[in-house]
Amino acid sequence: MARLTGSLLHISTLPVLSSFIASSLAAPLPSNQTEDCFPPPNSVASSIEWTACPEEAQLLAAPSNTTAKVGSLFVNPGGPGGSATELVAAIAGGAIQSEAVLASFDFIGLDPRGVGLSRQVRCDEKIYAERVSLFPKTREEFDALEDKNKRLGTSCRELTGPLLEHVDTISAVKDHEAVRIALGNEPFNYLGLSYGAQLGALYAALFPNNIRSMALDGITQHSQGQAANILIESSSYAVSLKRFFEWASTDESSPLKGQDMETFWYSLLGNATESPIPAAGCNDTDCRADVNAEDILFATQPSMVYATGDVSRSASWGVLASALYNASEGDATAFATSFTSPTAYSGLAIGCLDWTTTPTFSASLQKQIMGGTYTPLTLGASQSYQIQQQCIGWPAPVVNPPKKLDIKTEVTILLVISEADPETGYPWAIGMLEEFENKVLVTRKGAGHTSFALGGETSEVMAMYLITGVAPKEGLLLDS
Ligand SMILES: *[C@@H]1O[C@H](CO)[C@@H](O)[C@H](O)[C@H]1NC(C)=O
Ligand SMILES: *[C@@H]1O[C@H](CO)[C@@H](O)[C@H](O)[C@H]1NC(C)=O
Ligand SMILES: *[C@@H]1O[C@H](CO)[C@@H](O)[C@H](O)[C@H]1NC(C)=O
Ligand SMILES: *[C@@H]1O[C@H](CO)[C@@H](O)[C@H](O)[C@H]1NC(C)=O
Ligand SMILES: *[C@@H]1O[C@H](CO)[C@@H](O)[C@H](O)[C@H]1NC(C)=O
Repeated sequence: MARLTGSLLHISTLPVLSSFIASSLAAPLPSNQTEDCFPPPNSVASSIEWTACPEEAQLLAAPSNTTAKVGSLFVNPGGPGGSATELVAAIAGGAIQSEAVLASFDFIGLDPRGVGLSRQVRCDEKIYAERVSLFPKTREEFDALEDKNKRLGTSCRELTGPLLEHVDTISAVKDHEAVRIALGNEPFNYLGLSYGAQLGALYAALFPNNIRSMALDGITQHSQGQAANILIESSSYAVSLKRFFEWASTDESSPLKGQDMETFWYSLLGNATESPIPAAGCNDTDCRADVNAEDILFATQPSMVYATGDVSRSASWGVLASALYNASEGDATAFATSFTSPTAYSGLAIGCLDWTTTPTFSASLQKQIMGGTYTPLTLGASQSYQIQQQCIGWPAPVVNPPKKLDIKTEVTILLVISEADPETGYPWAIGMLEEFENKVLVTRKGAGHTSFALGGETSEVMAMYLITGVAPKEGLLLDS
């Protein structure tokens, strides 16, 4: 569904834009927090206390030429658990090619509660590192999964505090509204990628009259049932994988050129099931020292963000082909589970408050039967499946369960999707057409997850919309 991986985060050149990071909610939580952790939006959090950016983002704090400014543009990179301040730093570093957008907005990256520069969710890394199967075949394996989830969640509660029960998307949306008001009560401009689209849709449902423009890129739909989410996501993953296979077996730059990729894939998964493949770069301290088939299945899905052979982009087809080749040669480091990724902990904590799961062994077996039958390439593996399995036994209750939104905005909301997105599948985008009354959906031909950073026609359409507030016509189908 959701994560946008590191590729946006290359910070190479000096920025030419003026922008700043609002990490205002990094302030300590009030000690008396029986209800919401933060004041409700309408209480006008009148002042924002500005502090210096963290070192890696210092380069941002240039004075701005406000003449051409439209206003502030809130951005969210997805996840859940992705850091919006890092996205702003990446934008300053050149991740967005549209000069017009850069000149028109101050970029506001508000790390959602529990994420990044806001109070980061923390958990016991040793418990996280314990290997359990997300595809339990026996009652014992299921009990081990539930037990680990429970102990991990309890450790997160101890290390994070009561915030752990308040990192749901409704709360994050209200925080965005509080910051919008505090920044001067200008109408909301928003660019949400991936899970950021879910955040945007919920904002639009709660505050439909406060929006000037909202572009959602890589559409999540937070109203489907458990089975539908697994099917939509795992089949989107499989569709994308097939496109990658086609490229990897034919492109000159691919180390797997000439391979029958489907045979290769099943063979690699089979080998890793028989005995885990060593990860030479890991020693069980920061990352797991070997990789099994589940690890490959879950790590491949977010490795297809960029449908290009360009190995300088992480999460590109080029890097994935190299990673698979290395694994077949006995080094699976690229697929090894990291124990130190803050995004993983935030994402889990948010996910378990936002999605429901049926916490029984039989339901777990039934999902495996469905995944294997309907999506044999990917076996149901997907971020939705992961969340459902990892939240079995989670100690904090769901507070923002999936439900259909009835979003009635005056302004037209722009939805953008690629036809073969590996994470936020096309069915979710079409599904959201039913939840937004006033919207247009733009489709980019091709694969890959999200479009704005690509700098093609789709980015241009998005840029024009954000700057002018005028939506393109419904049903556009763009080549790049
Ligand atoms: C927390 O707030 C409630 C309601 O305002 C109040 O009754 C209670 O005494 C406060 N608790 C603490 C520990 O300050
Ligand atoms: C500020 O932006 C305006 C509009 O784009 C431009 O005409 C002007 O030259 C700029 N001023 C400076 C000092 O860069
Ligand atoms: C494992 O790797 C980490 C760096 O990732 C290193 O600090 C540590 O010393 C290594 N431990 C052993 C036992 O090799
Ligand atoms: C595969 O191995 C080569 C040689 O060690 C290395 O340069 C490359 O970065 C590896 N690929 C990935 C994706 O880690
Ligand atoms: C799987 O293992 C077999 C037997 O060692 C080997 O011949 C084959 O190349 C391996 N497959 C992959 C994709 O690494």
